[in-house]
Amino acid sequence: MSSLPPDPSLYDHLDHVLVDEDSLRRRIREMGAQITRDFAGLPLTVVTILQGGAVFMADLIREIRLPLKLESISVASYHGGVESCGTVTFHQSRMPDLAGRHALILDDILDSGRTLDAILRRLREETEPLSLKTCVLLSKQLTRAVPIEADYRGFDIGDEFVVGYGLDYDGEYRNLPVVGVLKPEWIRPSP
Ligand code: IMP
Ligand code: MG
Repeated sequence: MSSLPPDPSLYDHLDHVLVDEDSLRRRIREMGAQITRDFAGLPLTVVTILQGGAVFMADLIREIRLPLKLESISVASYHGGVESCGTVTFHQSRMPDLAGRHALILDDILDSGRTLDAILRRLREETEPLSLKTCVLLSKQLTRAVPIEADYRGFDIGDEFVVGYGLDYDGEYRNLPVVGVLKPEWIRPSP
C-alpha cells in the first residue's frame, strides 16, 4: 500500500521548519545508540512526560536496543499559552514505581526547566530508582529559570516557541512530523 502524500495545509500555519524529518530521524538514532551503550545490562525504565514527550518516546525507544519498561507522568505547564506559567500541575497522584530500576525521564523540550525540576523532585522524594537520568529532544539555551540541563539532548535551539513532533500550541500541531515555528498570526494574544 502506498502512503498518502502530505497535505500541504498541515504546514500552512508554519513560518518555517526548524528541524526536518531526516534530521530528527538521524539524531534520534544517535541518541538511541548512545543510550543503548550507556544502559547495556541494566534494568531500564523509560518514563515519558505526557503529552509532549509521546512522539519522541515512540521513535526513541525503537532505537534503544535493550529490554526496557515504559512508564509515564502526565503534567501541564503551559495551560494554552506560549510561555510557561510557572506552575506545574500533576494529573496523577502517584509516581511510577521505580524501585530497582534505572530511570530515564523523557520530555519534548527543556525551557524554563521548572517542569523537569518539579518532576525530579517528586521522583526523588517518592520513588527509589537506582539512578535518575534525563533526556529531551530540544533544549532552549537562554530561557532557564532553574539551573538544570538534560543528560541527553537532541538539539539546542534559541528562545522561540516551536510546535510539532509532540509539541503543541493550545493542544494542536502535535502530529506534525517536523519541528517548526508558527506564523505569528496563528498565535492568539493572551487574555
Ligand atoms: P519548562 O517547565 O518551562 O521547562 O517547560 C517545559 C514544558 O513546556 C515542556 O514539557 C513543553 O510541554 C512546554 N514547552 C516549552 N517550550 C515549548 C515550545 O516552544 N512549544 C511547545 N511547548 C513548549
Ligand atoms: Mg510537555
